[in-house]
Amino acid sequence: MRTRRSLIDLDDLSAQEIESIFEQTSTFEAQPPGRLLEGVDAVNIFFEQSTRTFTSFNLAQLRLGANVVNLSPKDLSLATKGETVEDTMLTLSAMGICIVVVRHPEAGFPRRIASAFDGHVINAGDGAHAHPTQALLDLFTLRDEFGSLEGRTVVIVGDIAHSRVAHSTIRGLAELGADAVLVGPEGFLGDGDAVGGARIERDLDAALAQADAVILLRIQRERFEKMPIDDREYVARYQLDARRLKRLRTHAIVMHPGPYNRGMELDDTVLDFAGWRYARQVHHGVYIRMAVLDLLVNGAPERVR
Ligand code: NCD
Repeated sequence: MRTRRSLIDLDDLSAQEIESIFEQTSTFEAQPPGRLLEGVDAVNIFFEQSTRTFTSFNLAQLRLGANVVNLSPKDLSLATKGETVEDTMLTLSAMGICIVVVRHPEAGFPRRIASAFDGHVINAGDGAHAHPTQALLDLFTLRDEFGSLEGRTVVIVGDIAHSRVAHSTIRGLAELGADAVLVGPEGFLGDGDAVGGARIERDLDAALAQADAVILLRIQRERFEKMPIDDREYVARYQLDARRLKRLRTHAIVMHPGPYNRGMELDDTVLDFAGWRYARQVHHGVYIRMAVLDLLVNGAPERVR
């Protein structure tokens, strides 16, 4: 029996497997693949709000022919009847559930349930820790734009410390040979470990002039008590606006994992900017998740094993 693999963060995938996911994503975008998950049962449990990630996992599963159950955390016995999460997972295993996609505010929660579940767990975001499928779709969007990422400079702006997307994406950028440059106020930059070898730049204007791509982040107020600087100063120093867009090189693109906050990390001119790639990211997200599901359940193509 193939061991059931989980995807908790990007380091669960080899470089070859990431490459294989990208190839499969392009294939699926060109030609929908049919029912590769026929008869496979999937459960999605989102303990935190989600629009993009929840919908795209659902679509990916449905388009591949899986049976899908969406569990609302407040309806679980876990919530009020004293059942442990380990026992919940045992119960789902006994029903033959093959895939659990989970989002949770606590870092480490998906790893914990993976140890109690006889199937594949996919982390759809855990606290400020990791969000591997968002990182994959960000990296795919960059690849789609530039081909190889070797030597490309990706500037990540804003609340990096509380962003699971940034933590996973920074890992992936290093893996694919790109340089990550981080810009934000003290208090939003996080500790050295979480940001790997990424370079820190204090001045956004200087960083923009070097960028091939800029990734903007939402300020994740639900994850901290006090803003390190006040909102007005944040906007003055870190908002991408019409004036700052002019500092970008002509080929540069701007990305955002969503949800974006108009008037904070960006103003409306960014949404009309020719290099704004948010909708492309969302579009790729469905196919990336199809490719991840296919890899975990059906295994990698021969050449990757
Ligand atoms: C993010 C998340 O939930 O981590 N969004 C996403 O999944 N695309 C980012 C955020 O909440 O700001």
